[in-house]
Amino acid sequence: MAKKIFSGVQPTGNLHLGNYLGAIKNFVELQNEKDNNCIYCVVDLHAITLKQDPKELKNNIRETAATFLASGLNPNKSILFNQSLVPAHSEGSWILSCIGRMGWLNRMTQFKEKAGKDKEKASVGLYIYPILMAADIMLYDATHVPVGDDQKQHLELCRDIAQKFNNDYNVEDFLVPPEPLIQKQFSRIMSLKDGSKKMSKSDVSDLSRINLKDSKDLIINKIKKAKTDPHPIPNIVEELENRPEAENLLGIYSSLKNQNINTTLKEFGGKNFSELKTNLSEQLIDKISPMAKEINKLLNDPAYLDKILLDGAEKANDIAENKVKEMKKIIGF
Ligand code: TYM
Repeated sequence: MAKKIFSGVQPTGNLHLGNYLGAIKNFVELQNEKDNNCIYCVVDLHAITLKQDPKELKNNIRETAATFLASGLNPNKSILFNQSLVPAHSEGSWILSCIGRMGWLNRMTQFKEKAGKDKEKASVGLYIYPILMAADIMLYDATHVPVGDDQKQHLELCRDIAQKFNNDYNVEDFLVPPEPLIQKQFSRIMSLKDGSKKMSKSDVSDLSRINLKDSKDLIINKIKKAKTDPHPIPNIVEELENRPEAENLLGIYSSLKNQNINTTLKEFGGKNFSELKTNLSEQLIDKISPMAKEINKLLNDPAYLDKILLDGAEKANDIAENKVKEMKKIIGF
């Protein structure tokens, strides 16, 4: 069945393997499925929940757009745009912030992680960010949202907001509660330095992640230094329990090769990590290096990237503006 897809990526620099394997790779597959309507957004309004340097932000917006294109997203098949060009996101977000409850937001684990110990100093935007995310999705009546595992809770909140809006205003099915599309396997790529931590752009150690613009040498070096454990690679999945670093490296390899973890275990079971690491580096270079080259090439033509985002924004605006108009009518404005 045809799906209406919406997803977003923050332009905060250092897009990494987690973003690619957890989300963007899936964006491309969904785009290429027959009849799907896909909208992919560079969520720049989300980025400013943490302080940004204006020049860097501008570059990062273009770099995220370049990454979309280099990964295989096609502006003739999908709508690609940046959020701040479509005012309905801000307007819809305000309306939905009057629907969402403090108690719901207080449960969001990502806010707790990002705000850290000093919650009082976090921006209000960071706190209500899941509401903006709900607006992003529901302005387009998206039925499916491809994301990594870390966004699951935000999507549950989005569904709660949809239900409450529809109930409060007695408009059955007006806001569409979206289904998360989270891959069954490899939906959470972990740090190369600590298998219990998510691979993240905010980790202080660059060795913890593979960035999509890393050079071949850097990839080889990072994989060489990736944490492992003293045991050989097991033959069966059950034996990966309590071995998060082994599980992560094998998962990354499997995801890059589009194969099941059992197939990977057949390939490497009983062997030591150096063999896996050599093969993993090769796979990464195979996938990442052409992308890095393309991203850098596209970045040399900022006017081209801006044009793609602007054209996409015009199309997105037509849809989102209309939905906000309907929302306002329902509310009584
Ligand atoms: P962001 O920008 O942090 O991440 C973009 C996508 O990458 C996924 N991801 C990961 N997947 C697996 N392993 C990891 N280590 C990893 N790190 C990141 C994320 O799950 C995400 O899918 N709030 C969102 C952006 C957003 C959005 C939306 C998404 C704004 N509005 C509407 C969907 C729909 C975010 O900050 O993602």
